[in-house]
Amino acid sequence: MPSIPTGVVRQAAAQAQPNIALVKYWGKRDVALNLPVVGSLSITLDSIWTRTLVCFEPALAQDTFILNGVANAAAGARASTSLDVLRARAGITTRARIETRNNFPTGAGLASSASGFAALVTAAAAALGLELDARERSVLARRGSGSAARSIFGGYAEWHRGTRDDGTDSCAEPLLAASAWPLRVVVAVTSEAQKSVSSTDGMLRTARTSPYERAWESTQEADLAEARAAIHAHDFAKLAAVSEASCLKMHALAMAARPGLLYWNAATMAGLHCVRQLRAEGVPVFFTVDAGPQLKAVCLPEAAEKVAAALCELPGVLRIVECGLGAGARVIPMETVAA
Ligand code: PMV
Repeated sequence: MPSIPTGVVRQAAAQAQPNIALVKYWGKRDVALNLPVVGSLSITLDSIWTRTLVCFEPALAQDTFILNGVANAAAGARASTSLDVLRARAGITTRARIETRNNFPTGAGLASSASGFAALVTAAAAALGLELDARERSVLARRGSGSAARSIFGGYAEWHRGTRDDGTDSCAEPLLAASAWPLRVVVAVTSEAQKSVSSTDGMLRTARTSPYERAWESTQEADLAEARAAIHAHDFAKLAAVSEASCLKMHALAMAARPGLLYWNAATMAGLHCVRQLRAEGVPVFFTVDAGPQLKAVCLPEAAEKVAAALCELPGVLRIVECGLGAGARVIPMETVAA
């Protein structure tokens, strides 16, 4: 296969933000392609981000991957697998230098793999001059990390399960712009540690051993329809009800695996009660939790300060990260990655 001519470097940079699922993804019908057993629905955040520079350089013997200034072989292997798909599309074999930076903790339940693969695919496609639309980038980002399919889009996005075996119809699409209904997300960080069971391992264990797998699959379409309708109607109470139900259902499914998956700690649990108490007092807020112990409280903008103050007080809450809703993955000037 041809290579980029010697001396020519093809490079581009991109930024993407994590997304938080309101109707959760859990379970793979194809592990290699990251095809989900259910569709899911999310919001993309604004102020926490991944910025990634990809340089295809003919002189390189192998891909190199630098995360926050440090070489990382394990993350590099996953990035190489994604780049191989893009290299095949472009008809080249040239290796790349990947420099990536997160302004938030990596692998600790803040969806760094979602923003990471969305930024990687967007930067690499631009560097190679591949004219891929957002749906195609969503399919490619999904192969790196399922939830990355959704970070290609801003605001509210839905990732379709798809039905094809090759995964070409399993991509996200936008539902509503961030500016059309600008909710806020208050994250209570309760641990900075990397999670003990990865989402992939957790999903496989769940599929093998949880007795609730069939109920999970058969009730997802109704949850998605309810969430979609709530978003289009800007109906906060309805979105709160379906989002909390989906979060608790996902964790119940995972807790019922053998051995059961417990992603929460005591502070996560205190956060769930705190959010429910605030809502009982009339504060427009609901919770969601992913495959880690961070508590994410989603609220109307006027409630954010009160929610942050209440969560901050809880024993075990280390710090608060507050975000709005933001844009999808996009190309950025290359110098902003090193800045
Ligand atoms: O995309 P992954 O492999 O990081 O899995 C994400 C799983 C959850 O965050 C728990 C749910 C979701 O829909 O994002």
